[in-house]
Amino acid sequence: MLAGIKRMQEVLGIQDVDIQNKNVMIRVDFNVPLDKDFNIMEDTRMRESIPTINYCIDNGARSVVLVGHLGRPEPKFDGDKQSQFSFNHLVKRLERLLNKEVFFAHSLQMAKQLQSAHANPVILIENLRFYKGEKENDPEFAKQLADLCEVYVNDAFGTSHRKHASTYGIATHVPTKVAGFLLKKEINSFAKALANPLRPVLLVVGGSKVSSKLKLLHNILDRVDKIIIGGAMSNTFLKALDYNMQASLVEEDLIEEALHILDKAKQKGVHVYLPVDVVSTTHLEHTDQVQITPAQDIPLNHMAVDIGPATSKLFSLVIQNSQTIIWNGPLGVYEVPLFSRGSFQIAHSISNTYAFSLIGGGDTIDVLTRAGYKDSVSFISTGGGASLELLEGKILVAFDVLDRKP
Ligand code: 3PG
Repeated sequence: MLAGIKRMQEVLGIQDVDIQNKNVMIRVDFNVPLDKDFNIMEDTRMRESIPTINYCIDNGARSVVLVGHLGRPEPKFDGDKQSQFSFNHLVKRLERLLNKEVFFAHSLQMAKQLQSAHANPVILIENLRFYKGEKENDPEFAKQLADLCEVYVNDAFGTSHRKHASTYGIATHVPTKVAGFLLKKEINSFAKALANPLRPVLLVVGGSKVSSKLKLLHNILDRVDKIIIGGAMSNTFLKALDYNMQASLVEEDLIEEALHILDKAKQKGVHVYLPVDVVSTTHLEHTDQVQITPAQDIPLNHMAVDIGPATSKLFSLVIQNSQTIIWNGPLGVYEVPLFSRGSFQIAHSISNTYAFSLIGGGDTIDVLTRAGYKDSVSFISTGGGASLELLEGKILVAFDVLDRKP
């Protein structure tokens, strides 16, 4: 894992190359949530790439071409534009963030025309996932993208685990390919938490499925001193310890695996903390049925939906005694206000430490935002799947094709 992170840190950054009078393409991750009227609900990912875009403008790029994706459209034919996923919805916000006119290109051809028609334009090309060649990493499509630039900058950390034309294939055809400020900042923050961290290191992991975090749990045991497991994930672990979880969500087929993880943690001297009490209910909407009980005494037909107050206290104590904290996954059904207390309490405790805290995953960031602690942690990763893959010990493919120091 460490060699991989070091390798990713070694890629050249935008400040290492000359961009004066060059056409610069920046792969951004503008995959932001939109409401039903296509208003942007949360624009962190856009804001986080503004320093890279501004740097290119300020340092005399001939043109700045922005490419990326929004959602997961399934094009029926090449260039099949599904309006709900159009980058059109992002233009005004981008203009406001940059305080500059942004030209919207409906196609790669139009981007080329805009490059010749205007002096130093900032061009946003339509959602690349409208083209089949993007996800298929089609060499011809990658070449067409490459024809729009002499310098390629990847600033899309959230998409850096994808082997697509705009994150991977394009690099074969561009002479200079480097990392943007966001990509650098992300990998350096993960290095701080994983490569040479202040100890003790704590992983707080939640969410609904053990299966989605199985690799992470196995891999991280070599890097951390303590693990807090909450959310529906912890049900499977508690069941593995013979607790009667009643109607709680349990991944029966992973009970053996959960035991194996607990055993491996013990051998490695990693302390694992599980809920000692839970909030449970018969149904998410039946709030008159809510009970707090020890984890051993969940009432008949009840399902665990949040950690209880004793667990919040226990987990907070563990958090207070950590120097590096990585948090991925909520500790309860936080979308229902009544069952958000445990996750909010953990957000509060993490924000109150002096530890280096790294938060990843869309739901976890949502918890932090709703709880009002977004500005009180050390680093929030813009990557969901990408940050999970990093914690699993994988090298993110998009880093592999960037230039590195000789
Ligand atoms: C994300 O939202 O995690 C990234 O933008 C990647 O999106 P994807 O999972 O659709 O590739």
